[in-house]
Amino acid sequence: MTKVPVTHIDNALIDREAIKTMLARRIPDHTLEQPFYNSEALFRIDMEEIFAKEWIFAGMTCELPKKGSFVTVDIGLSPIIILRDNNNDVRAFHNTCRHRGSKICLGAKGKSPKLVCPYHQWAYDLDGELVFAGSDMGDDFDKSRYSLSPVHCRTAGGYIFVCLAENPPPIDDFVNDMNYYLEPYDLDNAKVAVQSEIIEKANWKLVVENNRECYHCDGSHPELLKSLLEWDDDNDPRSTPEFRDLVKKMQAFWESQDVPYKFQMRYENRNRIVRTPLKEGTHSMTMDGKVACKKLMGRFTSPDMGALRILHLPNSWNHGMGDNLIAFQILPVGPQETKVITRWLVHKDAVEGVDYDPNNLRHVWDATNAQDRTLSENNQLGVNSMGYQPGPYSKTFEFGVINFVNWYCERMAANLGE
Ligand code: FES
Ligand SMILES: [Fe+2]
Repeated sequence: MTKVPVTHIDNALIDREAIKTMLARRIPDHTLEQPFYNSEALFRIDMEEIFAKEWIFAGMTCELPKKGSFVTVDIGLSPIIILRDNNNDVRAFHNTCRHRGSKICLGAKGKSPKLVCPYHQWAYDLDGELVFAGSDMGDDFDKSRYSLSPVHCRTAGGYIFVCLAENPPPIDDFVNDMNYYLEPYDLDNAKVAVQSEIIEKANWKLVVENNRECYHCDGSHPELLKSLLEWDDDNDPRSTPEFRDLVKKMQAFWESQDVPYKFQMRYENRNRIVRTPLKEGTHSMTMDGKVACKKLMGRFTSPDMGALRILHLPNSWNHGMGDNLIAFQILPVGPQETKVITRWLVHKDAVEGVDYDPNNLRHVWDATNAQDRTLSENNQLGVNSMGYQPGPYSKTFEFGVINFVNWYCERMAANLGE
């Protein structure tokens, strides 16, 4: 039996050159070497080379309903403010004061005509310009030199993406796709009905890998499997004749409703979008398969919309049904710690207790998230073992994981440069 080489690099010594060496000797279609999943030094480089250079899903436009509304998000060590300015545009800034660097907005969200630093009360307008610095900085103090540092920000079909890099990678095709596929949802006029935040004691790549396959679903997700069908489309070699018939029937129906469904992939598997049927007779990811919200989203008139699946690497996956849309966001916290934020969106006019019961809305994915947390945490514990060595992915059951790991390795190599 051939033995796959075990990593012999001390985690503490991981640097950019060591990462290049490990990427160059990577065994195709295998899990990565141990430091990618547990090293503190490699985590910092992940934050600098992936999370600070790629587009990151940061929030939803409906969370910024008015001029001056803001939300905050931490991308690695960098806190960011995202706000709606006086022209109703969504903009992002580094959440660090240009005086002595204090974090400015401390809460998760709020609304204010100005951003006032809590330390010495320097104040910035919604364009990020410094408008007040007291009188103590001297007569020749030039406020125009101390605006907040801007961050690239794009909205797409109701989603907000930010990029900390000076020159962000391309995103236009995906923005166009999102506008097209999400038009029926009218997400600007949706609301976050429920939000959950959990911490998984696992590296962010293990969390994403776990999400990219349903090889584990049969053994772990009884609630989810009440409505979910595993296959993305009828090209999946595992799909059954019954599934292919259902796909044909549902696609003809969606066509009649002018609802987009075709599979679309962009930027080397960074972005995938497809609408796929739920189990026949089910309309939503609930325990009984019935809608969780009586008021449907956007312009839908039928609940029979299957699920619009959207992937955005490195940090988001989504399921959009006819009655609610579930957006998942991952934010790495440490080498073995990841925050998973789940938002359940419904029509903004849906009334809690009348149109939807929040507990019913969240039940299936609360259970599924908890099950996935256990799986990822167990994965982390085993990967930390001195007996761990890279293992093979199944090309039929784990192609989604292979796509993710390939994307990650390509982006890491490209961003590290020569
Ligand atoms: S650090 Fe913000 S006002 Fe001083
Ligand atoms: Fe899962």
